Amino acid sequence: MIRLQKAISDSGFCSRRKAEEYILKGKVFVNGNKITELGVKVSNTDDIIVDGNLLSYTEKEYYVLNKPRGVISSTKDDKGRKTVLDFFDTDKRLYPIGRLDYDTTGVILITNDGEFANLMMHPKNMIQKSYIAKLKGIIDGSSIKKIKSGTIIDGVKCIPDRVKLKSIDKKSNTCIVEIVIHDGKNHEVKRIFQNAGYDVIKLKRESFGFISLDGLSSGKKRKLTKKEVKQLYNLANKKGL
Ligand code: URA
Repeated sequence: MIRLQKAISDSGFCSRRKAEEYILKGKVFVNGNKITELGVKVSNTDDIIVDGNLLSYTEKEYYVLNKPRGVISSTKDDKGRKTVLDFFDTDKRLYPIGRLDYDTTGVILITNDGEFANLMMHPKNMIQKSYIAKLKGIIDGSSIKKIKSGTIIDGVKCIPDRVKLKSIDKKSNTCIVEIVIHDGKNHEVKRIFQNAGYDVIKLKRESFGFISLDGLSSGKKRKLTKKEVKQLYNLANKKGL
């Protein structure tokens, strides 16, 4: 969310000072409501009319991609490896929100909205990300307890919101664990399990906030709906209070 006068000046319609004048003169409408105060905040899904003109933005785009293994979460790669942007055909300058490792699969959000990306990534906004990890070895109760009590990563104590053993396979000496985190440190899940003595063999992000794969197969993407984007904004703003 940004201040209305900033949204107006960002659109190129006029300067911020002029935008404030328009607001105080009662010439600005947001979603049909006349605004006459300067404190109002808006998001880029709001309709803003200034002196009878509907503002136009560079259209913002928001996607969820089911990232396959062997794909890098950046806009380009020096080594010529496939990137998450290779799944998009657009002239917009898209980029991923946060990172998934080269070998991690699952939900990754892609956008050209910098404000949205920052909100989604900022740890204070506590957006939950849920992962399914396949571990080498069979995790015991005391290790789960240890993980739940927190792991120091880059000087910060990372306490997962949830850790749950889902299944064990004695034959292959592996197990499946669900873990929900909100910090977003580099390699956070792998480091949490490694610290407890377990290597992650496979990792999949099942959801980001309430956005899940929901039938999206590997390498497929879909646009987020306006409602989903708004809900994600609200989620971040509420948690960040
Ligand atoms: N944690 C990891 O260790 N890897 C990822 O890709 C995401 C979270």
